Amino acid sequence: MTRVLTGITTSGTPHLGNYVGAVRPAIAASHQPGVESFYFLADLHSLIKVQDAARVQRSTLEIAATWLAAGLEPDKVWFYRQSDIPEISELNWFLTCVAGKGVLNRAHAYKASVDRNRADGEDDDAGITAGLFMYPVLMSADILLFNADKVPVGRDQVQHIEMARDFAQRFNHLFAGDYFTLPEAAIEENVATLPGLDGRKMSKSYDNTIPLFAPRAEMKKLIASIVTDSRAPGEAKQADGSHVFQLYQAFASPGETEAMREAFEQGIGWGDAKRKLFELIDAEVAPMRERYEALMARPGEIEAVLRDGARRLRARYATPFLAELRHAVGLRDLSSQDAQARAGAKERAALPSFKQYRDTDNRFYFKFLDGEGGLLVQSNGFDSPKQAGQLIAVLKRSDRADAMETPEINVLVPVQEVLAALRRLRDAEA
Ligand code: TRP
Repeated sequence: MTRVLTGITTSGTPHLGNYVGAVRPAIAASHQPGVESFYFLADLHSLIKVQDAARVQRSTLEIAATWLAAGLEPDKVWFYRQSDIPEISELNWFLTCVAGKGVLNRAHAYKASVDRNRADGEDDDAGITAGLFMYPVLMSADILLFNADKVPVGRDQVQHIEMARDFAQRFNHLFAGDYFTLPEAAIEENVATLPGLDGRKMSKSYDNTIPLFAPRAEMKKLIASIVTDSRAPGEAKQADGSHVFQLYQAFASPGETEAMREAFEQGIGWGDAKRKLFELIDAEVAPMRERYEALMARPGEIEAVLRDGARRLRARYATPFLAELRHAVGLRDLSSQDAQARAGAKERAALPSFKQYRDTDNRFYFKFLDGEGGLLVQSNGFDSPKQAGQLIAVLKRSDRADAMETPEINVLVPVQEVLAALRRLRDAEA
């Protein structure tokens, strides 16, 4: 399985450019076989740009509703909100402590801000928050926590993926293990960038967008306001280079595109061309708009979908992996180390062992470690230590891979390794 991870910053209202450039291709990709897809709302990232609490909330809701309306299936992909996964923030700190400051100094977004300050005769770092500076580290935590193989991004984000690889490599090296997969950027080459109302790239920062779910009448009006040249109806028009044509092409089949190209040559009027463009877009958007409006009317359901996604994802990957990472950096259970120190004998220390403990959520857990303290099995939480102990007893006796298939535990290494460690433990205790 290839793991593909996509993050969406929750700082605006989705527009046609976002839909064609990101939402539509990502949802198509999620239906490919052999892919485990992760989609998340990067709300922690949005705090770097937006200090308007209501806007963060509004944008998070709108973007979640957009992805669901566009066909994302939350029971087939991982769909969650960044701030619901506290492990991301904790990993962010571990990575902060291995990331080179010099590497971050070279980040394009940060450098561009410094350059602007210099051009304005300001202090280099005037108005630049540490959040903007650390942006690539948080993004690395998003990616590395789930060991994503591929990250679809625009060209402007490729450098961030390279940094994630750099931080991952440093961590793996410093703590001597294959903790992190090195992610790769998947650059969407043939995804269209749409022109906005004024012909520049459609972007919130140019204020030239067509909101994806603008009411029908408003969408029609906005499309009618797209800037064109002054050729009259009947005059031949160039399809290539026309913004109206470019938008049309992003929603049309090859046949429809060719027919429109012909119509341009034959002098279709701008009013007619725009009406056809509106009809084409509306045919694709209208069914989604209906779902979107229904979802927006029930925000509690969206909230529940996101929380459920995060809860399952934490149990499945984030919590056990972070336990392993905490151990790797030395944030360890002191009593277990103490016990080992008292035992003294190297042979005892080198044996695999079960460790039972109570976590901050007041539930009871255990883990199964190899002789070097590497995590082999991490349990989920139990109501009582007795329940945890009973399952440990079962595991200790078992010599079969299928005994590891219970949902109460997460096996973090190939099952054969766990069975071999159990055998060693049994042999030593015999
Ligand atoms: N930086 C991305 C953007 O602005 C959003 C993002 C945050 C992201 N974390 C990510 C994308 C992790 C991919 C992977 O578009």
